[in-house]
Amino acid sequence: MDLMQRIIAHAKADKQRIVLPEGTEERTLKAADRLLADGVADIILIGNPAEINKLAADFELAHIQEAKIVDPKNHEKKAVYADLLFQLRQKKGMTPEKAAVLVEDPLYLGCLMIKAGDADGEIAGALNTTGNVLRPALQIIKTAPGMSCVSGAFLMFTQTPQYGENGLFVFADCAVMPNPNAQELASIALETAQTARVIAGIEEPRVAMLSFSTKGSASHEMVDKVVEATRLAKEMDPNLKIDGELQADAALVEKVACQKAPGSEIAGKANVLVFPTLEVGNIAYKLVQRLGGAEAIGPILQGMAAPVNDLSRGCSVEDVYKMVAIACNQSIALKAAK
Ligand code: ACO
Repeated sequence: MDLMQRIIAHAKADKQRIVLPEGTEERTLKAADRLLADGVADIILIGNPAEINKLAADFELAHIQEAKIVDPKNHEKKAVYADLLFQLRQKKGMTPEKAAVLVEDPLYLGCLMIKAGDADGEIAGALNTTGNVLRPALQIIKTAPGMSCVSGAFLMFTQTPQYGENGLFVFADCAVMPNPNAQELASIALETAQTARVIAGIEEPRVAMLSFSTKGSASHEMVDKVVEATRLAKEMDPNLKIDGELQADAALVEKVACQKAPGSEIAGKANVLVFPTLEVGNIAYKLVQRLGGAEAIGPILQGMAAPVNDLSRGCSVEDVYKMVAIACNQSIALKAAK
């Protein structure tokens, strides 16, 4: 069974309730139909019920009738969720009037359903930007206990089985934190190791904290940040296998590692790559995907108290399906950790 099949089987064994705020979007609806047919998750679609039912009929999606449909403008818990939003955000300037408007926004409504315990996770982004998907999640769902920031990881299935975990890597942060400080970068390292264990099935994550310097070969404040983040991550989890600062070649290639970082137990064997800024992480995953022919799955948002995963606006039906299955696995793991 390959990794994705394992993730899907795990989701089926303990069905989670996943809310899809872009309920009238074609790829989302088609994925929802397949997810329901396969019994991967209980699906909640946000959108106008008449419109969803018409689209389902047009696309011949017989299983959509098994989804729960929530009309953002008219449903029985609207006032409850508006009050929840007001209570959560009043110190940040939220008023009952603003909450009454925002609760009709499907991206806010999805997160409020999760916060209220009426859903376990959310997938969106086929129509909306990453920032718009993330903002309500960061404001309402917040970080998991012990995590200082949310970040975005990618599973990278490369064509180089001699590296990483038989070619598989977890890359982060590729989606969220533009310029993390050392403490945040340490948190990203821990979150990514956890994603490697829980989602990628990597029993022993080996985390490389990447830089343009290996073990003091260059000196710069950007290098200092990575060194400090590595120290903090070790302090936060003394059992974590992590090393830095390392250049990418030293992290991946045994021969280079022997020269540049002798004695490192990570150099030459890394399967988790943590990038110093979002610029680097985002560019790196896209280059590995487009020029290196790797399959990239993500961004998997990590560090959040409940899973909210973002889609690329160019996503396929298959991508939506996979991200829902991944969110189910994340939710199962988060519940088990409580
Ligand atoms: N982790 C936890 N909480 C966070 C984080 C984070 N990474 N970032 C912001 N927050 C919290 C803030 O503390 C704040 O909480 P509060 O209102 O309760 O005090 C709330 O979220 C809003 O914070 P702002 O800084 O006002 O939010 P902002 O409007 O700047 O948006 C966002 C945050 C959306 C994450 C922004 O940093 C962003 O746009 N990041 C880049 C996303 C992106 O475009 N990625 C690339 C594309 S994705 C791809 O290609 C795969």
